[in-house]
Amino acid sequence: MSLSPTAREPSLPGRPDAAVETILILGGTAEAAKLAAALSEKGQARVITALAGRTDDPVLPPGEVRIGGFGGVDGLAAYLKAEDVSRVIDATHPFARQISENAIAACAKAHVPLTVHSRKPWEKQADDIWIEVDSLEQAVAALPPGAHVFLALGRQHIDAFARRQDCRFVIRMVDAPKQPLPFADATIVLGKASADWQEERRLFETYGIDHIVARNSGGDAGYGKIIAAREMRLPIVIIGRPFAELSDAD
Ligand SMILES: NC(=O)c1ccc[n+]([C@@H]2O[C@H](COP(=O)([O-])OP(=O)(O)OC[C@H]3O[C@@H](n4cnc5c(N)ncnc54)[C@H](OP(=O)(O)O)[C@@H]3O)[C@@H](O)[C@H]2O)c1
Repeated sequence: MSLSPTAREPSLPGRPDAAVETILILGGTAEAAKLAAALSEKGQARVITALAGRTDDPVLPPGEVRIGGFGGVDGLAAYLKAEDVSRVIDATHPFARQISENAIAACAKAHVPLTVHSRKPWEKQADDIWIEVDSLEQAVAALPPGAHVFLALGRQHIDAFARRQDCRFVIRMVDAPKQPLPFADATIVLGKASADWQEERRLFETYGIDHIVARNSGGDAGYGKIIAAREMRLPIVIIGRPFAELSDAD
């Protein structure tokens, strides 16, 4: 079939033609992966998901995937231009502050519209026992002497707890640590948070946990531990958001 200069073959799912928009999703969350799947399914845009590359074997979302940092604001702005990105969606984790700040600055610099998908924080329910703090340091100080603690934090956020040598820690990590951890008494559980609260409860029971430390990340994927703690009447030292909610910057 010959095409007139203005005619274009219809886009196929996953194979958009060259003239449609290019969407960059800043990812690393379940929500970002769902968004990439939904936009790729439509087949009307080239969809690129950017991952920081923090985990060894990430689940790759549909569409194109780019792994690794951009090199700050200038690097991200240059990437937007080089790939002719028409829209950026920031669907990163609410505690991933730097990349969200970079996205605002880079999109302004490259004149590319930015949409921010920010999860709402979880709200305390009547039966929740929350010890609300604003920082990791406060969380360390909030643990009672001799606590058996489940740390639901990323690898880069746990070192401050090592000085609590009176406590016993169970630390959940996606990948095994590359270096020995600085803890006197810690057990590592490899895996991700489960949305299934009964699975989380079994884990807490297995390790005799009496306190949990978590960030108020919001979203469904990590809510299982919050429900499990509620059901078990376990206190959670819960760390609040590091900065005010970003609004939709469209
Ligand atoms: N923080 C958390 O608790 C948490 C939890 C679950 C998932 N995640 C995901 O893990 C990633 C890293 O989190 P973080 O807290 O380390 O981030 P961060 O402190 O905000 O970012 C540090 C640097 O990592 C690079 N980066 C971060 N996210 C990126 C992405 N999606 N694509 C490409 N480069 C990215 C950027 O490097 P350059 O400056 O070189 O561009 C950024 O300046 C995020 O994508 C986030 O969604 C984070």
